[in-house]
Parts: sequence; structure tokens; C-alpha cells
Amino acid sequence: MLINTLSLYNYRGYKKADIAFEKGVNFFIGNNGSGKTNLLEAIYFLALAKSYKTTDISTIRSGKEFARISATIFSEKKFEPKIVISKIGKKISINNSEVDKLSDYIGKVQVLAFLPEDMDLIKGPPKNRRYFIDMIIGQIDKNYLLELSNYKNVLRQRNELLKIIAENKTKDFTLLDIYTEQLAKSAEIIIELRKKFVEAINIELIQMHHYLAANSKKVEFKYNPLTEKNILKELKDKYQKDILFRTTGTGPHRDDYDFLIDNTSAQDYASQGEQRVLILAIILSIANIIMKQKNNKPILLLDDVFSELDYLRQNQLVKYLNSSELQSIITSTNIKDINNNFLNNSKMFTVKNHIVKEDGING
Ligand SMILES: Nc1ncnc2c1ncn2[C@@H]1O[C@H](COP(=O)(O)OP(=O)(O)O)[C@@H](O)[C@H]1O
Ligand SMILES: [Mg+2]
Repeated sequence: MLINTLSLYNYRGYKKADIAFEKGVNFFIGNNGSGKTNLLEAIYFLALAKSYKTTDISTIRSGKEFARISATIFSEKKFEPKIVISKIGKKISINNSEVDKLSDYIGKVQVLAFLPEDMDLIKGPPKNRRYFIDMIIGQIDKNYLLELSNYKNVLRQRNELLKIIAENKTKDFTLLDIYTEQLAKSAEIIIELRKKFVEAINIELIQMHHYLAANSKKVEFKYNPLTEKNILKELKDKYQKDILFRTTGTGPHRDDYDFLIDNTSAQDYASQGEQRVLILAIILSIANIIMKQKNNKPILLLDDVFSELDYLRQNQLVKYLNSSELQSIITSTNIKDINNNFLNNSKMFTVKNHIVKEDGING
């Protein structure tokens, strides 16, 4: 998949922008606050049909009524998605015909992003890891998202019932048994799919990390389900505890993942730079899985990716992206450490006060 052009109108700090990308590596260089992240965020918005971690309307340029993002995308066929965001909602269209169902639209523009927020993937709370992994597996397997939403529904109903039971002190567990059975069944499917994903990613990750880190440290991504065997029994054994706490204490909604570098926990020991290399390796590994399993090529959005990376790792990353079949869009405050050879054929842009200037193709 390729993004050929992007047009913005009243999006964040942009009054108007028209950008033509190259099919390989695209660099956007500019100082802090110049509009680099906003640009990637706009592409992200096109992919997810919503803002990343903020409200949709906060993306409308201050004092304006609406914002517009449109693009030309080359996938199997060329198509032109457009999103108009206004205070009363958003309108999404493809080739000027309006999209009725959001679920039909999502997945049309495929991106994989590395955003500075993703740095809490390793050291942040388990919720961050679950969210990140759930989104990724969902991108590969729509059934996973359906099952997850089913699980969350049953979980919510079960938790409501636990409160009612706790308050009324009823001893009738018939409905609780039913919810528990449904929950256990759904949990098993989710855990299996997570395991399958973790297995697939580890194969890629070892090589990718080896390349980016340019060392021989062995990384491992581990999934630690709270309950794995006989979830139904486990849930049933904990009825009294769940009623006491008025919530379901075990299951995939509480699971966590671990990252190990040479068998030591990255959560406890990895430096900022090491974490960044690891997260980038994870994202690029996921890209490879998507290419292999889905035959799709997601667009890579790498925001402020060089900070905390030393000279060697910055160059390994750019070298990798140059050799990759994927289109990548990278932002940075500077590229002074990048070897000129690796910039050949890359397209360079400068961003200043939310104005993008094309500097042409290097080399
Ligand atoms: N809705 C908005 N209207 C106008 N300006 C905005 C809006 N949202 C963000 N900005 C501006 O965008 C700037 C941040 O741009 P950003 O792309 O994050 O910079 P960077 O180049 O450092 O990544 C801020 O200075 C902010 O004032
Ligand atoms: Mg930024």
C-alpha cells in the first residue's frame, strides 16, 4: 500500500497542505512544534477514522468550523479516502461516495505507527501492552476483534451481576454460571490467538532486533496468561472472591506480556535507547507478519524516531527501511547522523510553522 498524496485543510496547525510522497523513505525534518507529528497523526486518522488518543474535534484548527483530510492511496486499486471532521461529527467518503458503516471503512488504509507514546509499551502499565497487542492482532485477524468485543460484553454483564449478588446476597448462581461459561469459552479463544501471535512475532523479532541493535543479544517476547488451563474451573473456584471484590479477577483482561533481552526483563533493565530499538524491532516484525499473512504492505509512520538512538542504530534503521518494500514516513528534528549513502532515493521535506516544503529526492 502506498500513500501518494495527502491534502490537509484546517487540520491542527495546518491551514492547507498538499504533499506528494515517494514510494520508499520520506523524511520530514523540522523543529519542535513545527507540525511533524500533526502530519503523521492525519495519516493515522485516515487509517483509524478517529484521532489517536485525543478527541476528534481537537484536531480542527483553532477557530475553524471543520477540518479535512484527504489522500490518494494505491492499493490493489487507486482510491481517494476523505474525512471531514466538524463539531457535529465526521463524514467519511471514498472516491466522493459517502461511507455508511465505519466497520466497512476501517482497514482500507493500513498503517503501522511508532509514536513517542509507544515508548511506554515496555515500562508502562499492563493495560498499555494489552491495548497495543490487541490492536495489532486485530489488524491481522478481524475475528480476534470480534471475539474481544464479545468477551468484553460478557465481562461487563458478569461484573454487573457480581455487584447485584454482593448487594442482595442472593445464593442463586444460575445466571452467574451462564456468564462464567460464556466468558471461559471466549477467554480460551482469545488466549489461543494471542499465543499464536506471540509465537509468530518471536521468529521475526530475533532477526529484526539483531539487525537494528547490531549486537547479538537475544530478545524474547513473552505472553503470560493469568489462567491458561481450565479457565472455567478457575473462574468457578473464585466465585466468592469475585463477589467480594465485585469484579472478575482473572482472565485475558488482566493478562500481561514481558520483553526479555538476554533473559533479563527489559521492563526492569533496558535503557531508553534499548527500549526504542526493541519497540522498533517489534513494529517492523509486525509489518513482516502482515506482509506474510495478509499479503498487505502497511505504511510505516515513524515519529521522532531517532531521538535516544546512537549513530549506529539510527543508520541501521535507515538502512533497513531503504532495503524494505514498505513505504515509510519518518519525522525527526535532524538527520545529521545519517550516512548520506543511506539517504539516496529518499524524499526530503522541511516542515516549518505548519508549512511543508519539498526538498526533492536525495542522490
Ligand atoms: N487544533 C489545533 N489548532 C491549531 N494549532 C494546533 C492545533 N493542535 C495542535 N496545534 C499546534 O501544533 C503544534 C504541535 O505540532 P506537532 O506536529 O506536534 O509538532 P512537532 O513538529 O514537534 O511534532 C503546537 O504548537 C500546537 O499549537
Ligand atoms: Mg512531534
